[in-house]
Amino acid sequence: MPQHERFNFADKAALLQKTEELHLDLPFQDDVSILLQPTEIAGRKVPNRLTVHPMEGCDAEDDGGPGKLTVRRYRRFAAGGSGLIWFEATAVAPEGRSNPRQLCLSPRNVASFKELVRRTRAAAHESLGEENDPLLVLQLTHSGRYCHPDGTLRPVIAHHSQVLDPMQGLPIDYPLATDEALDQLQDAYLEAAGLAVEAGYDGVDVKACHGYLVSELLASHTRSNSKYGGSFENRSRFLLEVVSRISERFPELIVTSRISAYDGLPYPYGFGADKVTNEEDLTEAEALLGRLRDSGCPLVNVSIGNPYFSPHLGRPFNTPIADAETPDEHPLVGVARLVRITGRLQQKIRGLPLVGTGYSWLRHFFPHVGAAVLEAGNAGMIGVGRLAFAYPHFAKDLAKRGRLDPEQVCIACSGCSQIMRDGGCAGCIVRDQPVYSDEYREGRRRATLKGASP
Ligand SMILES: Cc1cc2nc3c(=O)[nH]c(=O)nc-3n(C[C@H](O)[C@H](O)[C@H](O)COP(=O)(O)O)c2cc1C
Ligand code: SF4
Repeated sequence: MPQHERFNFADKAALLQKTEELHLDLPFQDDVSILLQPTEIAGRKVPNRLTVHPMEGCDAEDDGGPGKLTVRRYRRFAAGGSGLIWFEATAVAPEGRSNPRQLCLSPRNVASFKELVRRTRAAAHESLGEENDPLLVLQLTHSGRYCHPDGTLRPVIAHHSQVLDPMQGLPIDYPLATDEALDQLQDAYLEAAGLAVEAGYDGVDVKACHGYLVSELLASHTRSNSKYGGSFENRSRFLLEVVSRISERFPELIVTSRISAYDGLPYPYGFGADKVTNEEDLTEAEALLGRLRDSGCPLVNVSIGNPYFSPHLGRPFNTPIADAETPDEHPLVGVARLVRITGRLQQKIRGLPLVGTGYSWLRHFFPHVGAAVLEAGNAGMIGVGRLAFAYPHFAKDLAKRGRLDPEQVCIACSGCSQIMRDGGCAGCIVRDQPVYSDEYREGRRRATLKGASP
């Protein structure tokens, strides 16, 4: 197993040498222009093929509406020139929030989301001209076993997991979300989608990744006597029904999903795991993408892993958060896994562009790998998460200079994830220091008082 190493590539040759040493299939090309070409999603022109992935800032107002830092974040992303801005996980019900400062859409605060959308579009126009209209998609979520609506863990679980229940201290008789409760939750998604239309979003994502409720349902092999558990048809029912219901009710809205193609949890507790080896088995992910396409999704965002169990799968890093282990895997192996999984799925599922994930660790080399992935037809768009926190104007810079500035990229230090875990407002502590370094320090101070490692 290749050992973990920090990013240490002086130039392209060093990166390619390491790729070869690790026997990885990671494409690279000098010409990045394909990333900057316009594309079309559901008949709408998208200025380029770069996406800002959804990333929670944990900075909502008390009523769940966007706060000052939320507005600042999206204005920076929009001014930065990415073609698609995928707004962060936004709860469809207050009890489904991952933390008390997670965005939560409701009839009472929809006006503030409308203002957020207006100001986001205005920032794109001010920076790049009236004709530059990024696609704005809102991620709708219920945090499932990771709900902390009032700061305390209040899990809503779809099945018992011999892996995750003990980690969370859940007893074996902890009640499961009933089918009736899930039926009602479908209505909450529908209502939130209607509010997203009112706010002016182009699309909504029925979030089905990273172990949150809909993602956990996909893996509910052991949920018995339930229309939402057991067979693939039952496990995918919630997601597919919600997608179909929203598409029928709001035909003008793009309806999409972000899925974890592989949870990284052993069978039968994870989605996409081979029953014997527990390595990725993409059979069901492929079937799911086919059904999402048939239900009218014009694109899907592909991720993997569970940030609470296997963070290195979904976001390869240099340094883990405090008290977490450094994985026994080179981060480049993690990047290549994400690229490989998305590529395999894209090769099977034609006519449904997939948004690729996991590029931030590559720093200023990410456009060169992303462009080669697009060129090979192994994704439809390329997204970055942390790199956009650090360098929100990366797309504009790429268009202007044909390359990124190594001094502005994300260094995968996990500082933003740490703030989130410590209960603060998340952002980049390295490149956006004046705004987020106090937030980081204060969170660490609070956590260490409670006994965490500094
Ligand atoms: C602070 C933070 C918040 C995140 N919030 C979300 C979220 O709301 N929804 C989601 O699907 N992924 C979320 N992610 C995951 C990112 O979207 C992305 O998949 C991940 O960081 C890997 O991409 P990257 O290597 O480009 O950062 C979050 C990641 C971080 C670091
Ligand atoms: S704090 Fe900044 S540099 Fe560190 S991982 Fe987050 S975005 Fe990257």
